[in-house]
Amino acid sequence: MEIIMKTENLAKDYGKEHVLKGITLTIHEHTFTAILGPSGSGKSTLLNILSGLVKPTRGSVWCGNEIISDFGEKQLAGWKRVEVGNVFQEYLLLDNLTVQENIKIGICPHKPSLSFDRLVRILQIEELLNRFPAELSGGQQQRVSIARAVIKSPRLLFCDEATGSLDEENSKNVVELLHNLQSAFDMTILFTTHNPQIARTADRIITMKNGAVQSDMRNEHPITARKMVWG
Ligand SMILES: Nc1ncnc2c1ncn2[C@@H]1O[C@H](COP(=O)(O)OP(=O)(O)OP(=O)(O)O)[C@@H](O)[C@H]1O
Ligand SMILES: [Mg+2]
Repeated sequence: MEIIMKTENLAKDYGKEHVLKGITLTIHEHTFTAILGPSGSGKSTLLNILSGLVKPTRGSVWCGNEIISDFGEKQLAGWKRVEVGNVFQEYLLLDNLTVQENIKIGICPHKPSLSFDRLVRILQIEELLNRFPAELSGGQQQRVSIARAVIKSPRLLFCDEATGSLDEENSKNVVELLHNLQSAFDMTILFTTHNPQIARTADRIITMKNGAVQSDMRNEHPITARKMVWG
């Protein structure tokens, strides 16, 4: 499998606090990687640096043959627009637009989109297209925000605690649908979580502690989302 991203000695300081302490890792294309760790261990900071939202203090981030951590503002914005999809704990939908309109906001001009019909079918939101966000449950809103993030067919999909606001049933559903999307569209997904059960569904589990990678393992026997057991 091709390496799509790598980091070398990535560090982030906020004032005197060393939030990331020299992280070197590689991400392979078409995989689902979980970044696991307790609150404050640096998961979001790492994800935000990989997705170009935050600049590292030291070290470099590569995507393909390019060093994105060296990009200027304009080049970085262009890279993000074309290559990166983001899903957050909050759904961040626009209240005054319908589901269909919210999803289409994610389309990137001059780049072929995924099939809208196939996408909404996989995400089980085809019945909801004319509703407004206020008329949806949390799980439904998150599925719409995923559709908005992936419609442009990004090379990389970054999910930061994407199930953090959902109950057990909806969390399992969202994790399952992300795996379904990954295989349907051959996506590369990075997913931060503090839930070890979600991590067990991934191909690869990177565990963080105090701003460093504590372990980095291939998961030879991922479980299906339906097999996750909540504590
Ligand atoms: N913009 C910022 N300014 C100052 N400190 C920050 C900033 N962002 C993060 N930090 C600090 O960096 C550390 C790591 O934060 P981060 O959000 O990456 O952790 P996390 O593993 O994602 O935690 P959680 O599971 O709670 O989301 C924390 O101590 C946090 O306070
Ligand atoms: Mg976080």
